[in-house]
Amino acid sequence: MKENTESITSILEKYPRAELLKTPFLIQRLNRLSSFIGNVIYILRDDLTGFALGGNKTRKLDYLIGDALVKKADTLVTMKASSFSRNAAAAGRVCGFDVHVVLAGDESEQNPASQAFFKQYDTELHYVSKDKESALPDVYNHLVESLKAQGKNVYELHPGGSDSIGALGYIDAFNHILRYSQSSGVHFHRIIHATGSTGTQAGLLLGQCISGYDTHIIGIAVSQKAEVQSKRVNELALSTAQMLGIQFDTTHTLIDDRFIGPGYAISSDEGKNAVKMFASMEGILLDQVYTGKAAAGLLNYAINKQFNHENVLFVHTGGNSDLFY
Ligand SMILES: Cc1ncc(COP(=O)(O)O)c(C=O)c1O
Repeated sequence: MKENTESITSILEKYPRAELLKTPFLIQRLNRLSSFIGNVIYILRDDLTGFALGGNKTRKLDYLIGDALVKKADTLVTMKASSFSRNAAAAGRVCGFDVHVVLAGDESEQNPASQAFFKQYDTELHYVSKDKESALPDVYNHLVESLKAQGKNVYELHPGGSDSIGALGYIDAFNHILRYSQSSGVHFHRIIHATGSTGTQAGLLLGQCISGYDTHIIGIAVSQKAEVQSKRVNELALSTAQMLGIQFDTTHTLIDDRFIGPGYAISSDEGKNAVKMFASMEGILLDQVYTGKAAAGLLNYAINKQFNHENVLFVHTGGNSDLFY
């Protein structure tokens, strides 16, 4: 193993990208919210990544599609109706792939907005009825095998895009944060974001680890208890570190599971309040499933005076999942 002396840029240079990120990254100071809660809050606008539905999936797909292109794949396969699958369908279509998605539930049970989106991108959809949902991985594997048997060069996309290649997108995001911090002189003592399939946090933690930047990265869990989620984040960070040939220290991984509310994809009162505050004070739209709950965590820390006058960076990982639940 090498020491972590290479800069993030030189480590990432070896990995091809599909150039999906259309806008320069954007960090803004939230003046009204900051004066209201008595802490300086900045936001990384990853809802504005500029491709299809935007959000954190664009950063992951930039590397995943780049990898698929280098491997000369012609077909992408993934499963479940998620913001990742929808953005994958868009990215795949734009970059010339056939895209297949295996969905839980019959056609009539799907969210119409999600279906319209898939249709827009000519996605091949495969349905597994709800009473046979446990067969979803088998149907998926069978599909992959039959596409290969037809001579297709298949690239499999991990649900949520959270594998070692996808996580590179958030190492790159950390580099953006670092550059902003260096050019503006603003040091972020804490970075707060929603954590689900783990790629976002694993990437950010690796970026911190490579650069040695002194901060606390806090993942607000949207579905899993802290113990389970931190194990999942560390597993991905360790496998990605191994791919990159760097060391990773798992002891810095922080997960807060107090804002899940009634459950995954079920809105919480604290989340709704946070969504309203960001909308009415800053004109920034969050969603109830991910970013609203992460913002509820941020507001709770501020109200309970846990920030100690530090600069806090909130990562807006995308805000449109309300359309699809
Ligand atoms: C809007 C939004 N924010 C955050 C997340 C969580 O990111 P990750 O899955 O990389 O942990 C997701 C995942 O689906 C998401 O859609």
